[in-house]
Amino acid sequence: MPVAIVVGLQWGDEGKGKVVDMLARQASHIVRSMGGNNAGHTVKIEERECSVHLIPSGIFQPQAHCYVAGGCLVDPKSLVEEIEKVEKFGVAVSSRLHLSPSAHLIFPFHQRLDRLYEAKKGGAPVGTTGRGIGPCMSDRSHRIGLRVGDLIQPEIFKKKLSHLIQFKNLELEKIFNEPPIDLDKIYAEYVAYGEKLAPFVVDVEGRLNRALIRDETVLLEGAHGALLDGVFGSYPFVTPSSTLTGGICAGAGIGPRHVVEVLGVLKAYTTRVGEGPLPTEISNHELDEFTQSHDLREQGTTTGRARRIGWLDLALARYAVELNGVDNLALTKLDVLDHLEQIKVCTGYTLNGKKVDRPPALAEDIARLEPNYEVIPGWKTPTRGIRKIRGLPKQAREFIDLVEDFCRVPISTISVGPAREETIHIDQEWM
Ligand code: GDP
Ligand code: IMO
Ligand code: MG
Repeated sequence: MPVAIVVGLQWGDEGKGKVVDMLARQASHIVRSMGGNNAGHTVKIEERECSVHLIPSGIFQPQAHCYVAGGCLVDPKSLVEEIEKVEKFGVAVSSRLHLSPSAHLIFPFHQRLDRLYEAKKGGAPVGTTGRGIGPCMSDRSHRIGLRVGDLIQPEIFKKKLSHLIQFKNLELEKIFNEPPIDLDKIYAEYVAYGEKLAPFVVDVEGRLNRALIRDETVLLEGAHGALLDGVFGSYPFVTPSSTLTGGICAGAGIGPRHVVEVLGVLKAYTTRVGEGPLPTEISNHELDEFTQSHDLREQGTTTGRARRIGWLDLALARYAVELNGVDNLALTKLDVLDHLEQIKVCTGYTLNGKKVDRPPALAEDIARLEPNYEVIPGWKTPTRGIRKIRGLPKQAREFIDLVEDFCRVPISTISVGPAREETIHIDQEWM
């Protein structure tokens, strides 16, 4: 009963899309089970690139069935556009994508409220993607949210939508002094999306559990990264979903006992989009040198914002390994470090004069951490063409050994470029 989970171990954009695309070749079912179109996963196939936001990155492997499970938040406009985009890329979607009736719906007023909350946070916004994720999750928690199952039954949908809009108009008009929502306009728009999406709606969780009985391989694709987890991430600078393996399983309606492999994706350095502490953030001349890499391209896949850059933080990586129960690591973007004279790796911190090796709970304390670095000589050789671990320069192998020893988890995959073939496969026995 093999279920494998791919989970990001940093603040997102670790290269999960590439890793899922590669593993999807050997899987029958690929599942997104949390978050919404705040995610952005890029897959490079030969010389062409395509990014997906809600559709699983496994869609590019033609045998795979892909699922948007009940734990997800679905913006139907964005999903309809994404289906069209992927089909235009030359990939058949309609017979292979399946949508759970339990997934919650994002509405344009959620995006409006997302922006309004950000603006009212007293100059300390989270730096959200503006996709309405927080307000949609908050309606889900208040049990007034609408779901995909409602969308495809227009009578039920209208009744529930008008109830939800009553609440939202109170919030918009009385708190934010904003114009109210036009129920008829949204209803007409969403009924049209419902007609387009209805053929995709099936009992996703039932199908997945039946597939497990038949011993078929299911790959769960995490989004966002462990340090954006709504509870154990750098709260409040997080996304509201549970981004950890437990949450990924729960959102897919799959019991954790089926999981045989957790593959943690760790980028060879750190990035962050949006606000919040980044203890190893690089600045000044070090950043000038770092950003000279031709392969850096650190721009948000979803919002196009520049990603902040930091050195690899192994103390955070080990924390993320623990939170997720990681079995193996996929180390990505090693090639981005190829040009550096020296590479810094954080192995712990000093806080208030004391050594600490795990991040504290409060963002204010995380912001005050002083990283303790190990400095490693760079290898100054291109790694993109290398396909065997023994072909890597000695210094790169020392860097890899340090990551494995510190995280206490073996590395099974090393990515040295965005393309599928730019990969060193060490061990993938579980498949
Ligand atoms: P995700 O959100 O974790 O799926 O990551 P994104 O797709 O948002 O960002 C990762 C970016 O790095 C994408 O542009 C990928 O094509 C690219 N990428 C992935 N792996 C590698 C790698 O090993 N080297 C380089 N240079 N780029 C990579
Ligand atoms: P992938 O799956 C990077 C960040 C946002 C913001 C915070 C909250 O591509 O790794 P939200 O809109 O979710 O309420 O924003 O979370 N964020 C991401 N950063 N990659 C992502 O996804 C992200 N998803 C959310 O930038 O700081
Ligand atoms: Mg991304």
